[in-house]
Amino acid sequence: MDVHFTLNGENMSAAADSSTRLIDMLREGCGIKSVREGCGVGECGACTVLMNGDPICSCVTPAVQARGCDVTTVEGLETDGELDAIQESFVTNDAIQCGFCTPGMILTAKALLARNPSPSREEIRRSIAGNICRCTGYIPIINAIEAAAARTREENTAPL
Ligand code: FES
Ligand code: FES
Repeated sequence: MDVHFTLNGENMSAAADSSTRLIDMLREGCGIKSVREGCGVGECGACTVLMNGDPICSCVTPAVQARGCDVTTVEGLETDGELDAIQESFVTNDAIQCGFCTPGMILTAKALLARNPSPSREEIRRSIAGNICRCTGYIPIINAIEAAAARTREENTAPL
């Protein structure tokens, strides 16, 4: 069967059966290689995507669950070739080392800032508890999310 959904703002249709995982449909059926498989059992967050704005583990989500939904991966965060504030902040705050966790971490942060534009460091820490990073020690990631939140607030209040 074909699953019809929206992927990064575009209408998409991809083949899947009832046992196909969302991560496989995205990587193999849609060519989205930023969605990474770490553990495959919902523990590491490397496979995080946004479904209707909420972060989910695509390794434990059936592909058919995406039917009619809005799915976002990091490929969908750029606007007119410009990186999203969170992506830029990860670069400028050295929050990327090997990069394996980065797409999932950025999407989790995106969802956090959408529902809470001024998170405390503790709230940021809690929000990324399901995203494991083996490299950074987390502090640069928390710094990056905090800086992106501040920049977004500034941009949203700047006079036109
Ligand atoms: S690969 Fe999905 S949570 Fe680890
Ligand atoms: S940067 Fe390597 S796992 Fe996070």
